[in-house]
Amino acid sequence: MFWATLLLFNGFLVLFLILSNRSRIKKEPPLDKGIIPWLGHALEFGKDAAKFLSRMKAKHGDIFTVRVAGHYVTVLLDPNSYDAVVQDSVSLDFTRYAQVLMQRIFCLSLPNHNPTTERAMMRRHFQGESLACLNGVMQRNLQALLATEELQDRTNWKQDGLFNFSYSLLFRAGYLTLFGTEQNSHNQDLTAVYEEYRKFDSLLTKMARSTLNTEEKRVAGSVRQRLWNLLSPAQFRKAEPSSWLQSYRQHLQEMGVDEEMQTRAMLLQLWATQGNVGPAAFWLFAFLLTNPEAMSAVKREFSSISLQANPPHHLPLDKLQCTPVFDSALSEALRLTAAPFITREVLHNNTLRMADGREYNLRKGDRVCLFPYLSPQMDPEIHQEPEKFKYDRFLNANGTEKKDFFKGGKRLKYYTMPWGAGKNVCVGKDFAISSIKQFAFLVLTHMDLELCDPASALPEMNATRYGFGMMQPEKDLPIRYKLRDPL
Ligand code: HEM
Repeated sequence: MFWATLLLFNGFLVLFLILSNRSRIKKEPPLDKGIIPWLGHALEFGKDAAKFLSRMKAKHGDIFTVRVAGHYVTVLLDPNSYDAVVQDSVSLDFTRYAQVLMQRIFCLSLPNHNPTTERAMMRRHFQGESLACLNGVMQRNLQALLATEELQDRTNWKQDGLFNFSYSLLFRAGYLTLFGTEQNSHNQDLTAVYEEYRKFDSLLTKMARSTLNTEEKRVAGSVRQRLWNLLSPAQFRKAEPSSWLQSYRQHLQEMGVDEEMQTRAMLLQLWATQGNVGPAAFWLFAFLLTNPEAMSAVKREFSSISLQANPPHHLPLDKLQCTPVFDSALSEALRLTAAPFITREVLHNNTLRMADGREYNLRKGDRVCLFPYLSPQMDPEIHQEPEKFKYDRFLNANGTEKKDFFKGGKRLKYYTMPWGAGKNVCVGKDFAISSIKQFAFLVLTHMDLELCDPASALPEMNATRYGFGMMQPEKDLPIRYKLRDPL
């Protein structure tokens, strides 16, 4: 009996290996399966995707297919060819892979999900006329949080880590702006949501890769449950009828989503709207604090805006629209630290046409992945000394925005891509930029903020987070701050 079972098992194993053993067919990208059956390159990919993909690029060029945990992923690293992916929503699908992640991270399944209606609803609330209104609410919330009693002490320094300082303020102000109702806006609730969210965020990449160990699974489950309790739909019934939150709840109800799934969808939205803004503000400040010339240039621009304000020091939202120096510094910070994967699923066998005329066949069921962090963002052919922070990299000599960047003699449409591009470009881009700008303006014009150790270097990035939007630091950067002028 034992030998029969062993033989049967070996038979299945051999069959499995034969069936899963794929080889490159003519006109397909170079195939690199790695040596471990089924897993392929998963371990190296998860440990440091930037390092792994750089190695693959050096070996195969700017397009190749790798095996990762049973999936075949075609990685494209030529920015001149990105339009073939980001503009194609017929053969390449954004939603399927997103649904896989939704299930793994948020235990959320939305079978009747209609991404087109959802995107249109998001645009209505986050772009155009609604944006000015949202920006105004965000400004009031940021001011109120910064003006809390503990900060009103103008003589004693307070100490914190810059990452926690930026993330906590922007998260709480963003939460109040988008999820705030009378019921859930108390300081304790805000702090509880932020603290639970940070625990959740620290396990997010492992949840996405299904690599949590038993103890981490337990922690992830209980943190998720606490966040669901804090975000339950009952809390949001009193939200403004015209608010984004009510439109989103209505959108879910129209899809027939029950209350439990609505709560889970709220957590997904909390991540989509708050998960990247704080880390982006952290990197901007970290670069400014370690580059005095850049800090002086941004402060100079803000002081001149502040002088035009009436009453003095009141934040002039309209004037904040013309800030080319700040815009360039932020773009530069994002170039160095925004590292999302742009992933699409191949819906049917088709051909990818590259900008230089090469053609490659893609197989149905595979995934296509762009990693703009490697190119264009860190590509030395496009950006000189790409590892250096140059606050004026995106400024022309006459102070206007620089948009001319080249690769292979060709002017690039995509020279930095923190927000994605094409059909699924970030809906919240303008709101995110405006929030970070308001935060930077308030902090730099009303507070003294400095590194605890003026010789501190920028912290290393946590390499396991490549692919998940904004990078996060390995450890925090100690700062001290106090209020200089009343808010
Ligand atoms: C620094 C902050 C942010 C960064 C770096 C960022 C980045 C991105 C990227 C790269 C994508 C494209 C994903 C893809 O094509 O596969 C995306 C999509 C999206 N972002 Fe953002 N985002 C930020 C803030 C926000 C905010 C504040 C909101 C909401 C108000 C938001 C809402 C969305 C939505 C709804 C999508 C999906 C668009 C679609 O389905 O077509 N993001 N974001």
